[in-house]
Amino acid sequence: MLVTQDKTQRIDRPLLAWNGFRAFRVARRAYEDAAQTQCSFYLEPVDGLPLPAFKPGQFLTFSLLFAAKGAAARKLIRCYSLSERPTPDQYRVTIKRALAPSEPAGLPAGAASSYFHEHVHAGSTLQIGAPSGRFHLNAESDTPVVLIAGGIGITPMMCMLRWCAQHQPQRVVHLFYGVRNSAEHAFKAVLEEMALKQAQLRLHTVYSKPLTEDGQGQDYQHTGYVDLALLKKTLRHIEHEFYICGPAAMMACLVPDLAAWGVASGDIHFEAFGPAMVSLPADVTQVQGQPVSAPISVHFQRSGRTLSWSGQQSNLLDFAESHGIQVESGCRSGSCGSCVSTLVYGTVGYDRSPDFDLAPGQCLLCVGKPLEALALDA
Ligand SMILES: Cc1cc2nc3c(=O)[nH]c(=O)nc-3n(C[C@H](O)[C@H](O)[C@H](O)COP(=O)(O)OP(=O)(O)OC[C@H]3O[C@@H](n4cnc5c(N)ncnc54)[C@H](O)[C@@H]3O)c2cc1C
Ligand code: FES
Repeated sequence: MLVTQDKTQRIDRPLLAWNGFRAFRVARRAYEDAAQTQCSFYLEPVDGLPLPAFKPGQFLTFSLLFAAKGAAARKLIRCYSLSERPTPDQYRVTIKRALAPSEPAGLPAGAASSYFHEHVHAGSTLQIGAPSGRFHLNAESDTPVVLIAGGIGITPMMCMLRWCAQHQPQRVVHLFYGVRNSAEHAFKAVLEEMALKQAQLRLHTVYSKPLTEDGQGQDYQHTGYVDLALLKKTLRHIEHEFYICGPAAMMACLVPDLAAWGVASGDIHFEAFGPAMVSLPADVTQVQGQPVSAPISVHFQRSGRTLSWSGQQSNLLDFAESHGIQVESGCRSGSCGSCVSTLVYGTVGYDRSPDFDLAPGQCLLCVGKPLEALALDA
């Protein structure tokens, strides 16, 4: 719910987020890379009322209703990080087209991202949930920041960079950005211009497969991948706050590597854009209670099924689906709240606190595991 109806009050009065979904119109769209795989969408509220601020690094949740050719309409929930610092008039997200896997042949390309790239244009209307998420810059600190982005993981970092440029221009910010080559190097000109203007911004661009025309020292600084060796060589010490967002494989390596280097768990912040297995030292994880040994009985009340959890699935959503129980889902990483279920009895544990704020008695199936016999309203 908004607290003000009057645009002139926007500076004096704080604005609150809204509940549920709000209609936005796409003001314009623009590709951010030469290969045209990553497209920014500029979004303005249809009601014309000012937008609440958000924390740099947070995301929006989209409720999409569309039909593929010849198929029935279906609803998809997807999250996209805000890629520009907050303004009262407009939000921006940047979406990478998720291509079909190279094998096995015949699998479809990403449903929501293809829809955005092919069908969402200036004037399109979208239903959007308010900014949320726990992956955001610590604005109270002036400790040097290390932003580590892999591919489309650059989006929350763009927001953090723009926010720092405006609010903390004295704060040292390193951006380690791993990308294949100049074709997929998003925001290239913008980043280069920012680095020219801001003495405190240090760019470390890493190409894994440079094109023959890509110049080391011009287009990029390093060849290979962003790894601990590069971080140690460049940063020299651990007195930094680390923010990481990228493919599952990158996160699964870098997060434990940083912890092993001695970086305090509270200084390692990360977000995966989907299911990711990241192992952390015990003090970073937040499993609530100790799991009893499998098998554990899980009762799905609405489906009328009682199943035995063997501990092999990584979460209750996979577990339900593998037994043919249909549960609504979106991000599958604890962000959007689509898979929320009422816990009739029992306890569900999480390896990390989910992004989505749970009400008492609720649990998230996509990141939850049973800690004892339980019953779910699903
Ligand atoms: C907090 C958060 C923030 C995010 N921010 C961003 C962002 O800023 N920008 C961005 O681009 N994305 C972001 N994402 C990811 C985004 O939400 C979507 O997951 C992404 O766009 C893919 O969705 P999709 O519907 O296009 O693909 P889906 O339809 O979900 O498919 C995903 C992939 O699986 C493949 N696939 C389809 N069917 C099969 C099958 N049967 N077997 C195997 N593979 C299959 C598809 O080809 C595709 O590559 C974010 C996610 C989260 C959770
Ligand atoms: S599917 Fe998004 S929180 Fe579970």
